[in-house]
Amino acid sequence: MAQDDQFKKLIAHAKEYGYIFQSSEIYDGLSAVYDYGQYGVELKNNIKKYWWDAMVKMHENIVGIDAAIFMHPLVWKASGHVDAFNDPLIDNKDSKKRYRADVLIEDHLAKYEQKIEKEITKAKKRFGDDFNEKQFRETNPNVLRNKAKIDDIHGKFVQALENDNLDDIKNLIEECEIACPVSGSKNWTDVRQFNLMFETQLGSVAEGASKIYLRPETAQGIFVNYLNVQKTGRMKIPFGIAQIGKAFRNEIVARQFIFRMREFEQMEMQFFVKPGTEMEWFEHWKEVRMKWHKALGLPEEKYRFHAHDKLAHYANAAFDIEFEFPFGFKELEGIHSRTDFDLTQHQELSGKKLQYFDPESGESFVPYVVETSIGLDRTFLTILSACIQDEEVKKENGESDTRIVFKIPPALAPIKLAVLPLVKKDGLPEKAREIIDSLKFDFTCQFDEKDSIGRRYRRQDAIGTPYCITIDHQTLEDDTVTIRDRDTMEQERVQISELAQIVEDKVSMKKLLKKIF
Ligand code: GAP
Repeated sequence: MAQDDQFKKLIAHAKEYGYIFQSSEIYDGLSAVYDYGQYGVELKNNIKKYWWDAMVKMHENIVGIDAAIFMHPLVWKASGHVDAFNDPLIDNKDSKKRYRADVLIEDHLAKYEQKIEKEITKAKKRFGDDFNEKQFRETNPNVLRNKAKIDDIHGKFVQALENDNLDDIKNLIEECEIACPVSGSKNWTDVRQFNLMFETQLGSVAEGASKIYLRPETAQGIFVNYLNVQKTGRMKIPFGIAQIGKAFRNEIVARQFIFRMREFEQMEMQFFVKPGTEMEWFEHWKEVRMKWHKALGLPEEKYRFHAHDKLAHYANAAFDIEFEFPFGFKELEGIHSRTDFDLTQHQELSGKKLQYFDPESGESFVPYVVETSIGLDRTFLTILSACIQDEEVKKENGESDTRIVFKIPPALAPIKLAVLPLVKKDGLPEKAREIIDSLKFDFTCQFDEKDSIGRRYRRQDAIGTPYCITIDHQTLEDDTVTIRDRDTMEQERVQISELAQIVEDKVSMKKLLKKIF
């Protein structure tokens, strides 16, 4: 299936099964803002728990906070966001559509990468087991030509970014003959900078209300609380502060569903270290964070590291963990070595010392910071894009059928088990409710008695429920039920008393965490 169709299908599935709705849909929606539905909120909460447990519960030296969204306006002056949190934008004069200039170039580069991948796929098919990919990449003329193109454009792009030269970025767009995807024209305006922060007013407008911002990252709430937490928690360096919360950015190019939103959630951790040790910790967190992703069991080849082309104003090293979404490899998480930039800036603008006294050396210093920053919504999108599958299944009469199954990692599934009475009479619904009443303290359960059992299984497959429990007449006689596995569709007859353990073994978050720690 074409990537575009695959992506549209995913969005339709997310809506049809109560995961994600367009915000204010009855008013025709609000661009790049989304609401999470009844299953979406459960999946989101489970992702948060997985992250929180991995970062806070598993580390004695990491604690969490929940800072306010509104902050003193000087916070954003100190952090550099007022002056430098800009995206380069460009308009197409014919379609009047606005684009991020850097994204236009990145998408153009991705086309050359796709050409290379196509060559390799073709060659793999042709040569079968004898195929040597490394050698092919190094010698095939088509691959080499496309690679040279990528290197040339990329080199010019990085230089333009490093020099903050907006004219060079426009020249590159023209040189690459990049056309507007809507009008097809190459009639571009100059590139301009656009600040991404949302502004609002604090207090009454009449009485000199002051301008404040909706936070564009949660990290600053951690920096300004560094000393509060260090002192009240008697934290010793190295230590971390973690936070999950909303962030807001007035994105120019708001597209690709929940990939780029104007209101989204981040899960960030700032790890405070002794200056000079930051690169060690940077490597450490790169590794731990990649393990966290891979423990979910999504295809490993969908993850890769990517070094930043241009370092943010606060960083001395930065890598992204990228994921292969239906529209290509894109950033999922950033790991940044932020030096002492933020704390030093806050020290200067607030006039308060933000230092750490090291009892061992007797020295005081401003700690360096290694940050891990992951988008909750983007993590959600990785699961939607890797786990919704169309499968051929054989019916009992030998005919084949298809089912849509959402193979969410069981620990993250919104509903862990559905309890289905075979018929709506003879005491079966009552028995089903009895089972739910005993299991609901440990697992999110769902009762479903509508439609044939086959349709109910399909519905649960599409939601991603790992187990369906069917109650039939035999259940009333011997307290046994059938339990059906979402992925294998195998059914087994088990004692009701065994259910809790069977489900726990499959859906426990501990299992995921044990893969990391
Ligand atoms: N504190 C560092 C920071 O905010 P970032 O790379 O700008 O760094 C971190 O953002 C993560 O937040 C990204 O890797 C991405 O997952 C998520 N993110 C950023 N902008 C987003 C947006 N507009 N919509 C959804 N997620 C976003």
